[in-house]
Amino acid sequence: MAGAEVILQTRAIKGFKDILPDEVHIWQRIETVARGIFRCFGFSEIRVPVLERTSLFVRSIGEETDIVEKEMYTFTDRNGDSLTMRPEGTAPVLRAYVEHALHLKSKVARLYTIGPMFRHERPQKGRLRQFHQMSAEVLGAADPFTDAEVMAAAHTILAELGAEASLEINSLGCPDCRPAYNRLLVDYLRSRTEKLCSDCRRRLDKNPLRVLDCKNETCRAEVEESPAVTAHLCAPCAEHFAAVKENLASLGVPFRENRFMVRGLDYYRRTTFELVTDRLGAQSAVGAGGRYDGLVESLGGPKNTPGIGFAIGMERLVLLMAEKERGLPPGTDLFIAALGDEARGHAFRLMHALRLKETACLMDTSGGGLKSQMKQAGKTRAGHTLIIGDDELASGLAILRDMETGDQKHIPVTEDIETTAAHIAAELERGE
Ligand code: HAM
Repeated sequence: MAGAEVILQTRAIKGFKDILPDEVHIWQRIETVARGIFRCFGFSEIRVPVLERTSLFVRSIGEETDIVEKEMYTFTDRNGDSLTMRPEGTAPVLRAYVEHALHLKSKVARLYTIGPMFRHERPQKGRLRQFHQMSAEVLGAADPFTDAEVMAAAHTILAELGAEASLEINSLGCPDCRPAYNRLLVDYLRSRTEKLCSDCRRRLDKNPLRVLDCKNETCRAEVEESPAVTAHLCAPCAEHFAAVKENLASLGVPFRENRFMVRGLDYYRRTTFELVTDRLGAQSAVGAGGRYDGLVESLGGPKNTPGIGFAIGMERLVLLMAEKERGLPPGTDLFIAALGDEARGHAFRLMHALRLKETACLMDTSGGGLKSQMKQAGKTRAGHTLIIGDDELASGLAILRDMETGDQKHIPVTEDIETTAAHIAAELERGE
């Protein structure tokens, strides 16, 4: 095999990242906190496959979106079916809701899921090709309390983890009022076509709303005076949006209206929102979501099933979390430094007995001097170290050292491993 090929084999694919042992505790903390909050907000977990039929995403996200046009990992499998690695979680969760008729189980389904998503985007800080989302969907509730509740759940997760982000909200109207607004917007933009970037010129025909959130400076200046979608909502949409804002305020969740925020997926109706920050460079959204009434029905589910949800990007959340919230990787409870052959055999059995008593325990089975073993105890971030040599075995007393305070005490060690282990486990528990 050529050298370059061997080197490539030892590198993860571009945009795909390992989460190493010394950072995994941050992810575990995020998941634990999120699961607790999801539970308080009435959500149950659902786990759905990472592969789905391509048509599911094309139908739901929209044929003319960036995701479907150029970012999906799509391939034909050995049966000739077109499959796609999920670029987001809403469509798979709704597919499962329809497939398993979950609407029959409860009037409102509240589902959350955590897992990897795949988009072939240009990797940069906070933007990967395999990334992770935790997302929540509420199906079967159309009222504006639900919108506020869902945004409050996203806000609470970020606040609890010390990740600062501001909530921006908008309403994109519904099939009754959006077409007329789209025409107004297109008329406005047509008079400025030459000034728009080439992407926006294309969007003008296919997806004019997207021109509103183009990052290009000139395009931004051009849309500054454009008609606002929220000024052209039909009466029911306007009423809904006003109630959402009132409900958010009643919960004390701070927010700001942003009429230029339109989202990159086509399924949204009425309320949309993003949790934004200026601390992630070009990637401003750490979380986002909105209402998608009509989507369940379009995927073959029961008629008139409303839906709303959000997803938080976990890589971005990790980047935003305050240092003190990240914590340290957990260390082992006990490191046994064994000196001498007889002590090593004894320590080996003692370590196993302690592990069965739920004490995290490590030793260096290859031996080594005291200095080297104490160094290893430090590296494993052991709470305590038990020092046991052949002399200690003979005298029946080993040394237990508290690694934080440096305090040492003698612990009886005998051939009765079970009793010794029980004694040590009790001693460690006392010291906690
Ligand atoms: P989205 O805005 O496409 O919405 O993604 C939600 C979040 O996922 C983003 O705000 C960002 O934090 C994270 N994210 C997206 N792409 C990447 C990437 N390439 N690298 C790292 N993080 C990324 C959705 O996916 C909708 N399904 C949200 C939703 C749920 N709407 C209703 N229910």
